Amino acid sequence: MIKTVGWYRGKVKVIDQTQLPEKLIYLNLSTLKEVGEAISSLKVRGAPAIGLTAALGVALQMNLSSAKNYSEFRKEVEATIKYLSTRRPTAVNLFWGLKRMEKVLVRCKPVGGRIHPTRGLDKSSPYKGSSYINRLKRILLNEALLMIEEDDEICRRIGENGASLIKDDCKILTHCNAGGLATAGFGTALGVIFTAKEQGKRLRVYVDETRPLLQGARLTTWELKKYKIETILICDNMAGLIMRQKRIDLVIVGADRIAANGDTANKIGTYSLAVLARAHKIPFYIAAPSSSFDLKIKNGEKIPIEERAEKEITCPFGKRIAPAGIKVYNPAFDVTPSWLISGIITEKGVIHPPFQKNIQELFA
Ligand code: MRU
Repeated sequence: MIKTVGWYRGKVKVIDQTQLPEKLIYLNLSTLKEVGEAISSLKVRGAPAIGLTAALGVALQMNLSSAKNYSEFRKEVEATIKYLSTRRPTAVNLFWGLKRMEKVLVRCKPVGGRIHPTRGLDKSSPYKGSSYINRLKRILLNEALLMIEEDDEICRRIGENGASLIKDDCKILTHCNAGGLATAGFGTALGVIFTAKEQGKRLRVYVDETRPLLQGARLTTWELKKYKIETILICDNMAGLIMRQKRIDLVIVGADRIAANGDTANKIGTYSLAVLARAHKIPFYIAAPSSSFDLKIKNGEKIPIEERAEKEITCPFGKRIAPAGIKVYNPAFDVTPSWLISGIITEKGVIHPPFQKNIQELFA
């Protein structure tokens, strides 16, 4: 299993995903700015991985803090959260991760000069009995590390819940990367595929290359190859043809944000796949943890969609392919309306239509 994000000797350790598949390089991020840059430049990417890295970013920044009391410490945490929350707008997991860090700190608000409760401090913690501020630092770090551990368990459960939908000899199409690299290490949509493989099912996975940043071609194929799963790379515009040729039994992708009615934002191109899947009567599944749901948002129209630099389209990977000065539109995500979705696979179970009602019930 990959370890996408972790804590190593006081630094945030991540895989630099922009270097894959040629090189597997780990970065040790030592400042908040480095963490912020790693997120916005997609060195770390994928909704859950972004949330986990941001949480560790808060722990990193506060580890360096020289705040003298709770209120100074809290102000610094708030400023850190504000900065990190501007790094990418669409994946709700970023805000979820930061909110959790804020919440644990709020719970540690001193009562009568003492931390209350001492949650997050294990018995063997070297910080036990150390200064008040050091204990706060440890509590934040422990929370971020706990989130990483939990992500792993959650992805395993998504895998088990989703694998029951995959029959032996299944031919699957996926888009972008919703694998170990997009989470702490196991993946959501790919987690389902890995689990089906572990169950001994024979699989063939078609992978969209995923223009413009090629997460499918560079990352998903790399992961599937490691798992020894038969993998066929296609250009995004080939999906319709292979569906018509009856080469696909099921489509499964991840999510960056799911609204209360099931409308789902995911990598640009996902919506087109869902339309194609419906036209060819192929089931279309989303796999995502509960941290990808944003129940405050009624439907997909309200999901903020990130627009990225023009050069990602005109000069992919440093090579100019379009005339200088050409106008460009580069949204990084699109929204698939829930009526095109067959089911949403979560760690709590598979949600089927009617989504509005079933999502509400699942989170009640
Ligand atoms: O721009 P990216 O690479 O961060 O986009 C990632 C995706 O769209 C993934 O499908 C999504 O985050 C789900 S990851 C489990």
